[in-house]
Amino acid sequence: MGARCYRDAIETEEHIVSQTDRTRDRLIETYRKKAKHYDITSRLYPVPGYPQREQRLRAVQALGLRAGDSVIDIACGTGLNFPLIEEVIGPDGRIVGVDLTDAMLAQAQDRIETNGWSNISLVQADAANFDFPTEVDAILSTYALSQVPGCAEVIAHGAAALSGGGRWVVLDLKVPGNTPAWLAQLGTAIVRPFASIDEWIMRRPWEAIRAAMQEELTDLSWTELFFGTAFLAAGSRGPGTFGVRPRGSGHQ
Ligand SMILES: C[S@@+](CC[C@H](N)C(=O)[O-])C[C@H]1O[C@@H](n2cnc3c(N)ncnc32)[C@H](O)[C@@H]1O
Repeated sequence: MGARCYRDAIETEEHIVSQTDRTRDRLIETYRKKAKHYDITSRLYPVPGYPQREQRLRAVQALGLRAGDSVIDIACGTGLNFPLIEEVIGPDGRIVGVDLTDAMLAQAQDRIETNGWSNISLVQADAANFDFPTEVDAILSTYALSQVPGCAEVIAHGAAALSGGGRWVVLDLKVPGNTPAWLAQLGTAIVRPFASIDEWIMRRPWEAIRAAMQEELTDLSWTELFFGTAFLAAGSRGPGTFGVRPRGSGHQ
């Protein structure tokens, strides 16, 4: 490669990296502002009256958890899923909550202390770079993975970390198929104050998530929720070389 080509390549790489950093910094700033009141305002997400709690319950059920299981909650935010998971895994289970935003994790920590849970640890990390612990029973991500530019890689890294038969479940928003243009524009106008929606619509991350889950997992189920405005995707890791590990054995 000539010196000029090499310099151009380096500059392009630096441009992409700094753009990614800027996007990440903006996202952290946004969630720092939202963190304190997130548990209340998220009830209006993406619009008032949206059946978010029902969807969240379905997502946790789709994990097929048992007492003693280990669960990773990717982009856990303030930990709204924790009580639902704790109810099933009990004190012998374990949750690792991962999130990019310090202020969201601070709220999650308050929730942990208020409930006296001693089996939850929090990690501040970009999901795209998170070093998954191995042999986990289940991985969950709710209303978040589509915000991660490298969402397909996160699915792949998580799938590799699951024990045989372990479950990966993603609940997230999407744009309904066959949406009339006027409805899509109206929806965009409603949601725009809450999110950087235009970039998200262009990127169509739910398609990348579906393709990655199809690739990495067996028995993928894909359910569209609330008129196609959300999806619940769930799949398992195949048995692997050493067979299916007994679930709920409380491994760390
Ligand atoms: C809409 S909130 C959802 C929080 C939680 N999962 C829930 O269901 O309430 C999105 C969360 O994703 C986190 N997030 C966004 N991009 C991330 C990334 N690349 N890595 C880790 N967390 C990220 C944000 O900090 C925020 O807490």
